[in-house]
Amino acid sequence: MSDTIQETKTGEFSADVDLSCARAPVGLLAELTHRCPLQCPYCSNPVELERVNTELSTEDWKRVMREAGELGILQIHLSGGEPTARRDLEEIVEEAAKAGLYTNLITAGVLLKRERLEKLRDLGLDHVQLSIQDVDAENANRIASYKGGAEKKHEVTKWVRELDMPLTINAPIHRQNIDNLPAIIDYAVKVGAGRLEVAHIQYYAWALKNRAALMPTKEAFMKTAEIVNEAKERLKGILVIDFVVPDYYAKYPKPCMGGWGRGIINVTPSGKVLPCHAAESLPGLEFDNVRDRSLSDIWLKGQAFEKYRGTDWMKEPCKSCPRKEIDFGGCRCQAFALTGDAANTDPACSLSPMHEEWAQVATEESHTETPEFIFRRMGSTPANAG
Ligand code: SF4
Ligand code: FES
Repeated sequence: MSDTIQETKTGEFSADVDLSCARAPVGLLAELTHRCPLQCPYCSNPVELERVNTELSTEDWKRVMREAGELGILQIHLSGGEPTARRDLEEIVEEAAKAGLYTNLITAGVLLKRERLEKLRDLGLDHVQLSIQDVDAENANRIASYKGGAEKKHEVTKWVRELDMPLTINAPIHRQNIDNLPAIIDYAVKVGAGRLEVAHIQYYAWALKNRAALMPTKEAFMKTAEIVNEAKERLKGILVIDFVVPDYYAKYPKPCMGGWGRGIINVTPSGKVLPCHAAESLPGLEFDNVRDRSLSDIWLKGQAFEKYRGTDWMKEPCKSCPRKEIDFGGCRCQAFALTGDAANTDPACSLSPMHEEWAQVATEESHTETPEFIFRRMGSTPANAG
C-alpha cells in the first residue's frame, strides 16, 4: 500500500510507515524567497541564503499548494525572506485558496501596495502577519537597517484593517527593544491587531551570531513575563498575546516545531523540504526536493523526517524522562549547535548536563557592553559583516 492522500486522511498506513506521523502536518511554511530588503540581525533564515536563480518556478509552487491541500495540511504560511518580493505571489495565493488552505502572509510589509493587498485578499488571502522591530521608528529602522520601514509598516496596518482582514503583529523582543514592550502592546491594540506575538529571540542562525547583541538580562526577561500576564488579563476579548520565552531562561525546552516531523513542513525557496527551518545546519540529513518527490511521500518516508521523529532516537536523560512526549527533547538544531550532537538533550533543559554552563553564557553576554549587529545580508559572515 502506498502513502496516497486518501490513505493519509483515513489513517490507513502500510507497515513501512512510522505511525507517529500518521496524521497530516497542520502547517506548511513556504519560504518563497530569501530575498528581503530588510536585514534583521535575528532572521530565522539560514546563514547561507538561497539565491534567486535557485528559486522554484511559479508552476512548482502551485503544485506544492495542491499537494499540500491533498495531504490534508490546513494552513499555509507564505514567508521568506520577504514573500511579496515574488511577483507571482498572486498566483500562488490563488492556488493555495483553491486547494482549501488557510493562507497567512508573513511579511515585513515594506514592499506592499494597497492595491496589491486588496488583490491578494480577493484571490483568497486569509490573514496578514506583520513583523515590527520596535514602536520607536528610529530604533526600528536601525534594527532592520531599512530607512522608512516603520512608517511604511504603519501604513500597511491601516490597509489590512480597511480591507477587513485579520492582523497579527509579530514583535521579536531582545535587549535593544525590550523596554518598549508596554508600548508595543498598546500599539497592537491601536492598530486593531487581533493577535500579538511577543517573541523573545530564539538563538539559531543569524540570531546565534548576534546573541550578545540581543540577549536580555534575566531580570528584564522576568519583567516581560509580568507585563504580558497583566496585559493578557486586561485585554481579554480584545487582543490575544502569544508569549515565546527565551530558551536560555527556561526550565524546560519548548517542543521545537511541535516535535520533529509531527506537525510542520518547511519548504525552502529552492524546494528542499525540511522538518524545521534550521535543519540544514545538522549533519547526516538528506533533504528531498519537491521537484523530485511528492510532499506526502517526503512527509511520510523522507530520511530527514524519520531521523528524529518520535522518541526512539533519544539518549539519556530524555530517553527515560516523563516529559519526552511533551517537549520531544527540545530543539535538535540547538542541541547540535551547542553540544555537537543533535541527539543530545537540548541544553535549554535543566536536566541536560550542559545546562548550567550554557545558562551562564546568557548571564554573561546580557551584561556585556552591547556589540554591533551583524546584519543579515547575502554573503555576510562574521569576517566581513557589519
Ligand atoms: Fe524534555 Fe529531555 Fe529535558 Fe526530559 S530531559 S524535560 S524530555 S529535554
Ligand atoms: Fe530545528 Fe528546533 S530549529 S529543531
